[in-house]
Amino acid sequence: MNRRPILEVSGLSKSFGGVKALTDASFELRKNEILGVIGPNGSGKTTLANLITRFVRPSAGSVHFMGRPIHHLPAHAVARLGIARTFQMVRPFYQLPAYKNLIVSLYSSRVKGLLGGRYGDRNAVALDLLEEVGFERDASAAYKVTGGLPQGYLKRLELAKAIALRPQVMVIDELFAGLSLAEVTSILPIIEKLRLQGKAIIMIEHRLRELFKIADRVIVIHHGRIIADGTCQAVMADETVQNAYLGATLHAGS
Ligand SMILES: Nc1ncnc2c1ncn2[C@@H]1O[C@H](COP(=O)(O)OP(=O)(O)O)[C@@H](O)[C@H]1O
Ligand SMILES: [Mg+2]
Repeated sequence: MNRRPILEVSGLSKSFGGVKALTDASFELRKNEILGVIGPNGSGKTTLANLITRFVRPSAGSVHFMGRPIHHLPAHAVARLGIARTFQMVRPFYQLPAYKNLIVSLYSSRVKGLLGGRYGDRNAVALDLLEEVGFERDASAAYKVTGGLPQGYLKRLELAKAIALRPQVMVIDELFAGLSLAEVTSILPIIEKLRLQGKAIIMIEHRLRELFKIADRVIVIHHGRIIADGTCQAVMADETVQNAYLGATLHAGS
């Protein structure tokens, strides 16, 4: 068993002016673990992803990766250490063929360091990565201009960009948003495979039913605070959690 957490988040907080986006978040993540992060819109989930990957600077608190503090590092240094993310709002190079989007990751200092300068054929690696996330090998999608691809492919591409960095920790922000149930169902085994490879995965997700099929544990964020942390079943049985979601439902559409 792997008892030592790969990631330790402690007292992590972020204020934007007067808005407390995240307050005093603490949790641990282990190798081979899929941790779900759920909560109503605006509760602070993406802020948590931004803080861990240092796209945003914390107002307070710490993040330790393999025992080492990383919250003071710039984003590229965090990525280089082995923490990769996907974005809720995908931002590919729309003018390029899909597989060329992976070239940035494949030229990163992390991959360079891991491979000692021996990259092999990067185009071939990019095509392999796309196949890994569900682009069919002999279909033309990998070569198509990215802007012409449907949302399902853009999300798969986003995942491939993160996998290309060979990360130890992945922070995945609402990968399933906008996808059909069939698409989500076909992506779930890909995430499970990443876990089996030894990665630790934080999965921010609104699609609870699908998330709960693969998450080992889940934390619930409400108004910037973690209000529950436990198994999917235990957390959903929690009255505070039910009230948070009921409140969100009542306010939906307002
Ligand atoms: N860059 C920012 N500037 C100001 N407020 C922000 C910024 N990012 C997020 N917020 C605010 O922080 C809160 C949490 O947002 P976010 O983390 O995006 O929530 P979620 O991902 O759970 O929907 C919201 O009130 C949002 O408006
Ligand atoms: Mg978000």
